[in-house]
Amino acid sequence: MNALVLGAGTMGNAHAAAYAKMKDVTLSGIVDVNSEKAVQLANRYGTKAFASYEEAKRQLADIDVVSVCLPTPSHKEAVIQAAQDKCDVICEKPLARHLDDAREMMDECKQQGVHLFVGHVVRFFPEYIQAKKVVDSEKIGQPIMARTTRGGSFPEASNDWYANFAKSGGVILDTVIHDFDFLRWCFGEVERVYAKTSRGRAAGKIEYALITLRFESGVIAHVEGTWAHQKFHTKLEIAGKEGIIEHDSSKVNPVVLEKSAAANEAGGVAVPSSPAKDSPYYLEIQHFITCIKEDKAPIVTAEDAYEAVKIALAALESIKLGKPVYLKEFTGLEGVK
Ligand SMILES: NC(=O)c1ccc[n+]([C@@H]2O[C@H](COP(=O)([O-])OP(=O)(O)OC[C@H]3O[C@@H](n4cnc5c(N)ncnc54)[C@H](O)[C@@H]3O)[C@@H](O)[C@H]2O)c1
Repeated sequence: MNALVLGAGTMGNAHAAAYAKMKDVTLSGIVDVNSEKAVQLANRYGTKAFASYEEAKRQLADIDVVSVCLPTPSHKEAVIQAAQDKCDVICEKPLARHLDDAREMMDECKQQGVHLFVGHVVRFFPEYIQAKKVVDSEKIGQPIMARTTRGGSFPEASNDWYANFAKSGGVILDTVIHDFDFLRWCFGEVERVYAKTSRGRAAGKIEYALITLRFESGVIAHVEGTWAHQKFHTKLEIAGKEGIIEHDSSKVNPVVLEKSAAANEAGGVAVPSSPAKDSPYYLEIQHFITCIKEDKAPIVTAEDAYEAVKIALAALESIKLGKPVYLKEFTGLEGVK
């Protein structure tokens, strides 16, 4: 299979590294409007650099799968274009900035008969997989509550696009969405959401958000997202009637490697690391490739990604209204466009 990566930023680096390691996939090229970044990443893996998707299409004989690692507002156009070219698509999370865009992307992929996978990578982190297994095995009994934390410093990226709320959706849509997806994987559908954020209250680049989720199953989750700390970290706690499980990324990594900003090849956004031999990003992309080859349903579907966007947008709506938002009544069209 021939894979093309759109975007040579943090996630473009992660996808390119994964493809380069796969024996059954050829990394055919890297596309970035910033040609210096495209060339740099392409050179690292001995592949070609392109300034646009159109240019890549003109020069490459075959593209089977396209990885969309562009800033969130550019996902829609790229996914639809790739689908119309009959390429399978792996799109970074969040699937889209707006719910109607997400649905349009999914519909187009369905209509064109191509797969659409979304990078909800937390489902590929060993500690989260293990937590889900423990919950499913009922070792902690009926789950009652969960508490999660995710974040670090304010993400730095091309054109400072994370700092533009209309583009990134802030820490909730961009970062906490990982936990929304994970919690929904464990506990099923969310009934209502109540959220608070520091966004707009503090000067400068900083955001801290707290979200309460009430699941239809009765589980309550306290979800914390931060772009106000320095080190990237994640925490998870799930309490059941017969026990509790805990994970704290600052405690579990046996060897800590911190590269200086200058030595960090991937770019500006801190992403979770894992002591596992194969990175969760590799495992995730390899899983999607296997799903394409064997026409299997993925561990995380586009519909799951849609629901995660919906929960995040409901949280943003709750912040605006100052009251809980019921998912069943939320259309997602309430938000600003
Ligand atoms: N799964 C995760 O853990 C994770 C972590 C970080 C970011 N993300 C997501 O990945 C996506 C990319 O984020 P990032 O941090 O890598 O961003 P980034 O700004 O570091 O990289 C994006 C790259 O795309 C290029 N670009 C922009 N528009 C383009 C276009 N139209 N055509 C070609 N190139 C274009 C930019 O020059 C830049 O190099 C976002 O949706 C983000 O939310 C996911």
